[in-house]
Amino acid sequence: MLRLENLTCGYGQMRAVHGLDLEVPAGGVTALVGANGAGKTSTIMAVAGHVAIRSGRVLVDGQDLTRRPATARVGAGVAIVPEGRRLFPDLTVEENLIVGGYALPAARTPPNRERAFALFPRLAERRRQRAGSLSGGEQQMLAIGRALMTEPRFLMIDELSLGLMPKMVDLCYEALASLKTTGLTVLLVEQNTARVLAVADRICVLESGRAVWRGTAAEARADPRLIESYLGEREAPALP
Ligand SMILES: Nc1ncnc2c1ncn2[C@@H]1O[C@H](COP(=O)(O)OP(=O)(O)OP(=O)(O)O)[C@@H](O)[C@H]1O
Ligand SMILES: [Mg+2]
Repeated sequence: MLRLENLTCGYGQMRAVHGLDLEVPAGGVTALVGANGAGKTSTIMAVAGHVAIRSGRVLVDGQDLTRRPATARVGAGVAIVPEGRRLFPDLTVEENLIVGGYALPAARTPPNRERAFALFPRLAERRRQRAGSLSGGEQQMLAIGRALMTEPRFLMIDELSLGLMPKMVDLCYEALASLKTTGLTVLLVEQNTARVLAVADRICVLESGRAVWRGTAAEARADPRLIESYLGEREAPALP
């Protein structure tokens, strides 16, 4: 689905990612993990067209999007749930969803909105509430719902669980599991090791803008040193 070839991106003179090769196979969850400042956000923002690409290529379904504007990438089926969510706080839940679907013909908005509400019934109950007055978890649900309004085939989520109450983390991961069954391909940035090991099919570990480990979640679980050095101190969960 996604192929990064020797991707280098950054801000002005600063390079945040150095020659990254990454393959995200269709129909599964790939997790991008690593310490603060490793380049996770920069990578996905470069794929979405919001961080300048200095060299290398971004291919989605074989289509070269490297030099295409962000809007063209949405048209190619790419959506992002950005770090910090970036909702419109003064718009209602429903209005945020409508804005999310703006690039598609208007007739597609109501069914897509209802799908978002079916995925997150809490949003349906709060459809006329201002986004800024939602809890952190509800805002994350809305950010996901808004991204889905573009009918993506490839969804990138930055820090799905960060700062959320455990119950909200559960709801967001249930939704992710349900989206996975629809065939959606997901690139997930997540700091919660147990969640990554449970949900991801493949894992790529970044350090200082470079990939230092790639493999399946099963391989990661079997490698305690990897978990200790790159995936935090937490113990790996027992195999299902
Ligand atoms: N807007 C910016 N301008 C300049 N440098 C930036 C900017 N955003 C990020 N950087 C730098 O790029 C590097 C990678 O940052 P990035 O945000 O991609 O890391 P990250 O892995 O997402 O970290 P975190 O876990 O803290 O979210 C860091 O050195 C960071 O300081
Ligand atoms: Mg980040």
